[in-house]
Amino acid sequence: MITVGEVLERTTRFLKSRGIDTPRLDTELLLCKHMGVDRLHLYLSLDQPLGDAELAAMRPDVSRRGSREPLYWILGERGFHAIELHTPVGVLVPRPDTETLVEAALAVIPRSEEPVYIADVGCGTGAIGLALAVARPEVRLFATDVSPAAIAATKENVRRLGLERRVAVLLGDLLSPIPPHRPVDWVLSNPPYIPSGELDGLQPEVSQHEPRLALDGGADGLDVYRRLIPQGLARARQGVLVELGMGQADAVASIFRQHGLASPRRWSDLGGVERVVGGPISP
Ligand SMILES: C[S@@+](CC[C@H](N)C(=O)[O-])C[C@H]1O[C@@H](n2cnc3c(N)ncnc32)[C@H](O)[C@@H]1O
Repeated sequence: MITVGEVLERTTRFLKSRGIDTPRLDTELLLCKHMGVDRLHLYLSLDQPLGDAELAAMRPDVSRRGSREPLYWILGERGFHAIELHTPVGVLVPRPDTETLVEAALAVIPRSEEPVYIADVGCGTGAIGLALAVARPEVRLFATDVSPAAIAATKENVRRLGLERRVAVLLGDLLSPIPPHRPVDWVLSNPPYIPSGELDGLQPEVSQHEPRLALDGGADGLDVYRRLIPQGLARARQGVLVELGMGQADAVASIFRQHGLASPRRWSDLGGVERVVGGPISP
């Protein structure tokens, strides 16, 4: 018989040997998944034996994590803002930095008694738009993506959150799948923004597993902004907000200015990195 504490120590050592930065936390979360407990109950169970069934079920997950598959693909869900999202294999795992875009949107979009129409372009799991739809009952959401896997993930999250009546999930490029006669008040997006040449140097979870379509922003990382910002400013009745990578705020602000948003605003994430640019369109 092996105890939960022994499995925790051994698995942590194994994941550390595979170069993982947070081996103990990852092991704790994998144990929680297989024991069906939260972390507090995990700590209270360290002296207890881990059942054969749990141990057998956990082994393939540890091996997947050892080969640097993203932790939240293995766990199958992740908390984001105030919601829990299904995070299936093949779809970019939402990052805590992206909560900056949600907070900026909540700060800049006025509360309303009337429906507010939001487009979340490149929705992935649906993180941005669904967090807003849960926070604001007046939100009506168009979630678009070119990846069928992302569309399926967002649809599943819409179902889990019971938001079917307020969300349309649409496959296609940028804003094009939203019927032209439908109003759009705000365009929000966390598009792919990593320069192509930097992708291979990123950690294996990103470079070897997460979809290139979600990451690759072309030679300088700005390809999607050059198409999305003019489309967004032409279509949105109220404003446009986009997430960006470290060091891209000046270039993205300049694209906004070129297309008519005279004084784009900027928001920083908790690490002080300028993470969101855009704002309301002046009347
Ligand atoms: C960085 S991920 C963001 C996912 C999600 N919004 C989030 O923040 O977690 C970018 C997403 O944009 C999608 N995408 C890439 N090019 C696109 C395009 N031309 N039109 C629509 N979606 C696109 C990708 O499939 C991916 O899901």
